[in-house]
Amino acid sequence: MPSDLAGKVVFLTGAASGIGRGTAIKLHSLGAILVITDINEAGIADTLQLCGRNDAGRHTGLILDVSKAADAEQCVAEVVAKHGHIDHVFNCAGINPTSMPLTETSEAYFDKLVGVNLKGTYNITKATMPHMTAPGGSYVNVSSISGWNPTMGTAIYCATKFGVIGFSKCMALELGPKGIRVNIVCPGYVDTPTNAGIAKGTAAARTAMEQGNALGRMGTPKDIAGVVAFLMSNEARYMNGSVVGVDGMLRT
Ligand SMILES: NC(=O)c1ccc[n+]([C@@H]2O[C@H](COP(=O)([O-])OP(=O)(O)OC[C@H]3O[C@@H](n4cnc5c(N)ncnc54)[C@H](O)[C@@H]3O)[C@@H](O)[C@H]2O)c1
Repeated sequence: MPSDLAGKVVFLTGAASGIGRGTAIKLHSLGAILVITDINEAGIADTLQLCGRNDAGRHTGLILDVSKAADAEQCVAEVVAKHGHIDHVFNCAGINPTSMPLTETSEAYFDKLVGVNLKGTYNITKATMPHMTAPGGSYVNVSSISGWNPTMGTAIYCATKFGVIGFSKCMALELGPKGIRVNIVCPGYVDTPTNAGIAKGTAAARTAMEQGNALGRMGTPKDIAGVVAFLMSNEARYMNGSVVGVDGMLRT
């Protein structure tokens, strides 16, 4: 069945790796026109390749640091000059946590996580809002199961992901009347490069993690991508401000 995402312009952040890349591949398969952004130039090129780089120039790759408001404005202006509008935004760029007690954290670490995970979501939202298809556009913002459940050693990360949920719910209130939906996806433990501590640690650590999950395994970027595509699609037309966990159900 053809997808209603075919021909839609989707702006993705953090799409050079992991969940962002997996979502780009899924949206490509549904016929969307992608704007693949990240700070990692080589990773952008690889994602474009995986999305059929030679597909008549359908997709665009752009270097973008989401923590910088002026860069976000300039990048979005380039996209609008090319496409005229944006249909959907996937706010995925983020820094995964390093587990450490608060006494070992620094101002620089705080600023980095808040700057990318929370302010980055704000910067992209602010820059894209005037250009969103209305009605019919949507945002999917990435939080985490750490956005509702505190975990030991990740206070700053948790603060950013709790923040993404609060920010996104306010976005949903403000943009809903324009016909633009905003939803939040909360992945559990997903096997991505910056989750290497769990995914590629000792076999015992991985087994413990898998046994702690009702489905007996870690998630994959593909597991998250399908849910993101659904949330953007017209099938989810009455979902706004929804917080959607995709975690296989943790036992703890
Ligand atoms: N992997 C998990 O288990 C998990 C669980 C819950 C939430 N998340 C969230 O999912 C999102 C994607 O994480 P992932 O696991 O795929 O990680 P990942 O490291 O594979 O991908 C993150 C991407 O964000 C990019 N990035 C980092 N800083 C950036 C910046 N300033 N501007 C633009 N891009 C930047 C990186 O270059 C990278 O390509 C993050 O927001 C993360 O917090 C991940």
